[in-house]
Amino acid sequence: MSGLFISFEGPEGAGKSTQIERLAARLNAANVACKLTREPGGTPLGMQVRSVLLDHDLDIDPLSEFLLYSASRAQLVRDVIRPALHSGEVVICDRYADSSAAYQGAGRGLEARFVGEVTWEATGGLRPHITVLLDLDPEMGLERAAARGQPDRLERADLGFHRRVRQGFLDIAAAEPERFLVLDAEQSAEALEAQIWTAVAATLRAMGREVG
Ligand code: TYD
Repeated sequence: MSGLFISFEGPEGAGKSTQIERLAARLNAANVACKLTREPGGTPLGMQVRSVLLDHDLDIDPLSEFLLYSASRAQLVRDVIRPALHSGEVVICDRYADSSAAYQGAGRGLEARFVGEVTWEATGGLRPHITVLLDLDPEMGLERAAARGQPDRLERADLGFHRRVRQGFLDIAAAEPERFLVLDAEQSAEALEAQIWTAVAATLRAMGREVG
């Protein structure tokens, strides 16, 4: 595969959407084709699964929750991510498998090995080349997310859950330092944008791509 696969991860309210938009703008300016997608969602099936997962009236068991995220992911990898990578595009995904390891594994308590095995089947072992982790204290993140409107089902979970999720992300990142760019999300949007662009541009150059 000749493309570059980048995922963005982090707790609620860490500013992923802003940074994804800014990275996409930088890539466009450098004439590098990129595809933006998100989890859960990104396909017609994924969009329906998304509305189930974020519905606050539903009581969803942790295993069912994980399998629903995995179903959305399997379809997204097959229909969107792999084809785009095959045609040489940069794929930017707003959340990917690390979210399941952090939210359903560390947060809900599902066994890490089981989460890893199902994820392997769902993705065919496809991992991002770069994962940007925007790290933020969950209290601050939930406050920022609440300012955006009605909290969804995950945002309503207790603070202890969100603390485990944050630690889960940090532990995954520590185990794979070559894939992760961990950034303190309290920095300004401009400072974050610059660090992300430096890392992405360096990787593209190393792949022999022109980035201006
Ligand atoms: P979304 O509105 O996309 O939130 P955010 O802007 O924070 O990305 O909702 C996605 C929610 O689903 C978010 O709370 C994280 C959660 N999630 C999981 O619990 N497991 C997963 O595997 C994924 C992809 C997301």
